[in-house]
Amino acid sequence: MSVHKSTPHEAAKLHVTGRARYTDDIPLPSNALHLAFGTSSVASGQITEMNLSAVENAKGVIAVYTADDIPGENDVSPIAHDEPMLTSTQVQYVGQPIFLVVANSHLNARKAARLGQISYDEQPPNLTIEQAMAADNPFEKPQKFLKGDPHAALNASTHQVSGSIDMGGQEHFYLEGQVAAAIPQDDGDMLIHSSTQHPSEVQHKVAHTLGVAFNAVRVETRRMGGGFGGKESQANLPACACALAAHLTNRPCKLRYDRDDDMVITGKRHDFRIDYDVGFDEVGKLNSVIMEHFTRCGWAMDLSAPVADRAMFHSDNAYNLPHAEIISHRLKTNMTSATAYRGFGGPQGAVAIERVMDHIAAHLGMDPLQVRRANFYVNGDTTPYHMTISDSVIAPLVDQLAKSSNYEKRRAEIEAENNANPNAVLRRGIALTPVKFGISFTLTKYNQAGALVHIYTDGSVHMNHAGTEMGQGLFTKIGQVAAHALGIDLGQVKISAADTAKIPNTSATAASSGTDLNGMAVQDACNTLKQRLQTLLQNHFETTADAEFYNGTITLDDHQISFKDAITLAYDARVQLSATGFYATPKIKWDREAGRGHPFYYFSYGAAVSEVVIDTLTGENRILRTDILHDAGQSLNPALDIGQIEGGFVQGAGWLTTEELVWDDKGNLKTHAPSTYKIPACSDRPPVFNVDLFENENTEPTIHKSKAVGEPPFLLGMSVFFALSHAISSTGNKNVYPSLDAPATPEAVLKTIYRNDGGGHGF
Ligand code: MTE
Ligand code: MOS
Repeated sequence: MSVHKSTPHEAAKLHVTGRARYTDDIPLPSNALHLAFGTSSVASGQITEMNLSAVENAKGVIAVYTADDIPGENDVSPIAHDEPMLTSTQVQYVGQPIFLVVANSHLNARKAARLGQISYDEQPPNLTIEQAMAADNPFEKPQKFLKGDPHAALNASTHQVSGSIDMGGQEHFYLEGQVAAAIPQDDGDMLIHSSTQHPSEVQHKVAHTLGVAFNAVRVETRRMGGGFGGKESQANLPACACALAAHLTNRPCKLRYDRDDDMVITGKRHDFRIDYDVGFDEVGKLNSVIMEHFTRCGWAMDLSAPVADRAMFHSDNAYNLPHAEIISHRLKTNMTSATAYRGFGGPQGAVAIERVMDHIAAHLGMDPLQVRRANFYVNGDTTPYHMTISDSVIAPLVDQLAKSSNYEKRRAEIEAENNANPNAVLRRGIALTPVKFGISFTLTKYNQAGALVHIYTDGSVHMNHAGTEMGQGLFTKIGQVAAHALGIDLGQVKISAADTAKIPNTSATAASSGTDLNGMAVQDACNTLKQRLQTLLQNHFETTADAEFYNGTITLDDHQISFKDAITLAYDARVQLSATGFYATPKIKWDREAGRGHPFYYFSYGAAVSEVVIDTLTGENRILRTDILHDAGQSLNPALDIGQIEGGFVQGAGWLTTEELVWDDKGNLKTHAPSTYKIPACSDRPPVFNVDLFENENTEPTIHKSKAVGEPPFLLGMSVFFALSHAISSTGNKNVYPSLDAPATPEAVLKTIYRNDGGGHGF
């Protein structure tokens, strides 16, 4: 059996020996050219004059292009047609591309790009939520979910709390930055190598840029060195720029962003402020939740509508909200255009309700876990978007984790220690937070995938599917599915680069659904091939028995033949040994206008307990221990799934603690390199880190009853944030709720401690 097995990542050996070929490693012909963007230095204004003669005359420069040189559409946006590749009129953020330098080397292109002389009629930028609300120019009207009568229920509740939480954005910090190459083909056709999660979209955008049909553009993606959502739409720009320059020069062109350029030019996670008013009873059980989301989307729409929607979809996280109103504002600001990032808005939505749990517990003087337990979904409850919950395992999962992590005893010890030592500089805190994450693209049509499986006459299998590999192990899992279906060894199966010429009309590899969709599509193709082989062998052996494919052998009753011999037989008998497969997720439907439906095929669940320590004099903090129990259904590959859980958790904890984006009041991103932007390092990983898979199977017939695992574990990082909140609550005035904002950097922790004790520092 090839599934439910911890086989290593298909490219593990290539990764660790440095031989894995990424886009920038693909050898190009010696006449290849290199590109760089000249970008805006102001956040808002009109270009009044552009003098590019110094750029044109710089060393190694072959050409300089502006918007006027684009033969087709000047737009690289995924949806709204509001992102010019090069602007020649209005500038909307610092870093916006204005001209494209084509040079004989990467360095010469970058050096020349700095020599542009551009004058602007500057306007004051809209940067803050307040400025954007006052400008009253959102990307779309506020969206709303409504369940029951939340305002009446709030007033009727025994207890009420109100508050607000800010949470910052997040740089993707994929180790491989954005990169693309375009190689002109016969008769003006274009081959694109792109580090993209969405080859079909790159194909479409390149075709529009050049003004050609989709069939004139082929996009290949073998692997990315991380995408994390940052290559869902952000890969369009470098690919279109390469295509433009390759088209105009008729030479291969490559564009690789320098890290600082990447951080300044590309979109990041959306930051949010969420205001809440909640009503509850004396045991902390929610009655009414009213929330208002404010998110800064940046200068262009990008994927902000579905991201902000997903934040709304996750504003319940794992809890039943009897009465609920969720309102969401999508604000236009003069900053990089916020985009997809692991969890796609879900983490931001969930943080707010976890804050509410923490706040209620403080108000009632309860352990936050008791409040959480009082509100967990049970099957039959309905969400704020009117979907009935039918697969919840949250209560038993949390019970099991609370027990295995010894949560109650450890919390009591920490409380006792903090109370006994009011002057201690170091304080510990602990928190358990759950996750429920909806699986499916909320735009129903994206939930489809295709596959192409060839069996060669030596019995080896070569296949393609609609997904891209970004380190998450998709190709390994899909290979396992095919090997299992055909009853052959995993080593006999090869998956080549995602390629728009092999699988058309693909969706982005996103929403964690890569394995769900492509696993089923590949299985479908394998089933077609198995059916053909069965018919052939039934005739051959003169039997009506079903064929079983196992261990390199095909068995029909008491007849046996090796897979390889069966393939020879099939070829000789002129049976087609290649098949396509297809899958469309059943059951899902969503009425966005009404805010009602069944947008998710199922939910993935999990929970984490984190223990932290803070230094009350400096605000410095670290994780001491984390225990995680996560539901991957019947895991296809436990080793890869645990890798996703560990990585997701650490990335989530980084978002809420060390990673801080700072813009100045002119709209300059001040944190555009690792020197000023702190992602978690190996040493920030919890020294005690216990990660287990929850014994479960998907209630829906997904591929081998597994569950998606790419994004949900990101939300486990919330446990660190609320453990910090717990540690802070032990300082100063215990009647003041800490109201910690994210990221909880040392400065933020220290500020909250000061606010908590009125600046008196009475500990
Ligand atoms: N894991 C690695 N190593 N690198 C990545 O870029 N992206 C995440 C997640 N895990 C990512 C990752 C995101 S944002 C998503 S949506 C899923 O993987 C996409 O892949 P899947 O659908 O195959 O899980
Ligand atoms: Mo993931 S944010 O859906 O690419």
